[in-house]
Amino acid sequence: MDKYILAEANGRVIPERDVIFGISGMAKEMAQKEGKDKVFNGTVGSLLDDDGNLMILSSVVKAISRLKPEDYADYAPIGGLPSFQEATIKDVFGSYSVKGFTRAIATPGGSGAIRNTIVNYSKQGDGILTTDWFWGPYHTIAQEHGRTIETFTLFTENNTFNFDAFKEKLAFLIEKQEKVVILLNTPAHNPTGFTVSDDEWDKIIKIMEDGVKDKGSIILFVDCAYLDYAVDPILVRRFLQKLDGLNERILTVIGYSMSKGYTLYGMRGGAMICLSKSLEVAEEFKKVSEQSCRGTWSNCTRAAQVLLSNVHKDEKLMKEIQEERASFRTILLSRGEAFEEEAEKAGLTTTPYSGGFFISVPCDNSNKVADALMEEGVFIVPMAKGLRIAVSSLSVEKLKKMPGIIKKAIGKVNK
Ligand SMILES: Cc1ncc(COP(=O)(O)O)c(C=O)c1O
Repeated sequence: MDKYILAEANGRVIPERDVIFGISGMAKEMAQKEGKDKVFNGTVGSLLDDDGNLMILSSVVKAISRLKPEDYADYAPIGGLPSFQEATIKDVFGSYSVKGFTRAIATPGGSGAIRNTIVNYSKQGDGILTTDWFWGPYHTIAQEHGRTIETFTLFTENNTFNFDAFKEKLAFLIEKQEKVVILLNTPAHNPTGFTVSDDEWDKIIKIMEDGVKDKGSIILFVDCAYLDYAVDPILVRRFLQKLDGLNERILTVIGYSMSKGYTLYGMRGGAMICLSKSLEVAEEFKKVSEQSCRGTWSNCTRAAQVLLSNVHKDEKLMKEIQEERASFRTILLSRGEAFEEEAEKAGLTTTPYSGGFFISVPCDNSNKVADALMEEGVFIVPMAKGLRIAVSSLSVEKLKKMPGIIKKAIGKVNK
């Protein structure tokens, strides 16, 4: 029998290997053979300490230890526990009291929210709009559901948001398919570390409103996976107020995730939260999202939902989590800044880092550069537009050494 005949014959995509896990595996192998200090493993999208161990919020562990058996053994309602839904809205909007209609539905991580948004707000064959630097699974999720990813150039030459590119691609898609789902990962974008500024948000909103003035509609999915790892996580939330009150042709859906903010990557706590001026749109969102949950994963992990509900009822514990998370954020930001500083000294161009787990280096032939870097013990992920470095998984000491090595490898490959 041919190697791939059963699923492939049905038109399913059979991937050869997962690039990130493949490279990470090679890094681990080399670390075992040659010692950890010789290896720079910048592939891991989790927060690791300087010795490479997972950093877990001890305040969250405390909350887990308080869970009762029925908190993790029982089913959760299809759309999530009401107390969880409320807590996710509070986590996202902070002290701001929303004027529009919001509904939250539990999803397995932010990934589930992306999946449900794509499936419910676009049709088979549609293009889903995102930035040209983007998190790979956007493509996988779109492909799984018969959609494609359409991109616009994220940065101008000055590393600011490229409004012209956005406007042009949005207009093209509205003309072609009327309804457009936009995936915008901000703040602290994966893979660049870029955060859309308040002024940039004003212009983005204007472009969207003008874009749907005569026809079409926009579903703006704001992927907030790294919301608590922006430079200033309180001020950064101001953009959400700008999205409150947009015209009815624009529906905002916020992708909420407990993976990073609560260091609970494996617990699959997440939600999709809508924000609309229209009660009907919000009600439809709730019903269609619940239908999607029922038809895919059924309900989500109850433990994550009870945990978040409990934390929101316990001011002292919430404060502890916020303080501990702030210390994690400080570590992360100092790593990003260390890399940026050394890159500048080495004459290496980077994307504009302002928080989050990643920074990138634009370059040609990224696959070849990544291969050359592996020979030097540097393991980073090649992307279409350059190299992604997980500052979340490397010490300041290692990050300071990397720009020079990367600069040399780029020069060697692209001479
Ligand atoms: C940009 C982005 N969006 C969403 C997610 C979703 O993560 P999860 O499904 O674990 O919440 C991630 C995780 O790495 C991410 O990097």
